[in-house]
Amino acid sequence: MPSILVTGANRGLGLEFVRQYAADGWRVYACCRDPGAAAGLCDIAGKSGGRVSIHTLSLVDPASIRALAQGLDGQPIDVLVNNAGTYGLKGFADGGMQAQAFGSMEYDGWEHAFAINTMAPLRVIEALIGNVARSDQKKIFTVSSSMGSIAEPPGGHLAYGSTKAAVNFVMSTLAMELRDRGITVMSLHPGWVETDMGGSTAPLKPAQSIAGLRKVIANASLATTGQFIGWDGKRVPW
Ligand SMILES: NC(=O)c1ccc[n+]([C@@H]2O[C@H](COP(=O)([O-])OP(=O)(O)OC[C@H]3O[C@@H](n4cnc5c(N)ncnc54)[C@H](OP(=O)(O)O)[C@@H]3O)[C@@H](O)[C@H]2O)c1
Repeated sequence: MPSILVTGANRGLGLEFVRQYAADGWRVYACCRDPGAAAGLCDIAGKSGGRVSIHTLSLVDPASIRALAQGLDGQPIDVLVNNAGTYGLKGFADGGMQAQAFGSMEYDGWEHAFAINTMAPLRVIEALIGNVARSDQKKIFTVSSSMGSIAEPPGGHLAYGSTKAAVNFVMSTLAMELRDRGITVMSLHPGWVETDMGGSTAPLKPAQSIAGLRKVIANASLATTGQFIGWDGKRVPW
C-alpha cells in the first residue's frame, strides 16, 4: 500500500488531499496543529480502518517537527507533501494585501510567512528524508503558488509571493541534490481555489484542484524532477 504524508491536513487543500488519497486506499499520515479541533479529518480517520493516522505538527516549532519524525520511527513515506501555508498574519481573504504592499509592508507578517512557507518545508524534508528514501516512489512536493513567479509576478503580495519564490529555490536545489538518491522533488501550483485562503470567489473547488495535482504527483519522476507544475499539468513560469 503506498503512503503519503500531508501537512496542514485539517482544512482546505490538505484535507482534500487526505480525503482523495484515503478514498484511493493509500496509507495517509495527516499532520495538523490541533487534531482536537479537526472534526472533518477525525471523521475520515475514524472511517479509514486505521489507514489514516493523525499527527500533531506545529510548523513554527522545530521540536514538533523532530517529534513527528521520531514518532514515525522510520516508516517509509512514498509521497511527502508540504501543503501547509499562510498568506501572512493577515489573510488574503481578510484584506491582508495592504499589509504586504509597497509602502505599507508589515514586516512581522512577512517573517511569519517566511517561517511557515519557506523554512518549514525544508525542516520537514530534512527530518523525513530517511522515510522517503526508504519508500518505493521517493517523491517530495511543496505546494507553492504562481504568486511566487519572478518571471510573471502578479503585482503586490510582496510577502506571500517572495516566500513562495524562495521555497521554489529550495525545491529546485533539492531536486539537484537528491537526484542521485533517486528522489523526485517538485513545486506545485494548485490554482486559485475556494478555501479559507483562496476566498469564496475562487474559480476552482478543492476537489478539482487536488484531482489535478494527484495526476501530476502520479506522473512525477526523475525525468521531471525540479519542475514547477500547476494543477492542470502545465509548467508554471519561475
Ligand atoms: N487556495 C488557493 O487559492 C491557493 C493558491 C495557491 C497556493 N495555495 C497554497 O496551497 C496550500 C494550502 O492552502 P489552502 O488554500 O488550503 O489554505 P488554508 O485553507 O488557509 O489552510 C492552510 C493550512 O495550513 C496550516 N498551517 C498554517 N500555519 C501553520 C503552522 N504554523 N503549523 C501547522 N500548520 C499550519 C493551517 O492549519 P490551521 O488550521 O491550524 O491554521 C491549514 O491546515 C498553501 O501552501 C497555500 O499557500 C493556495
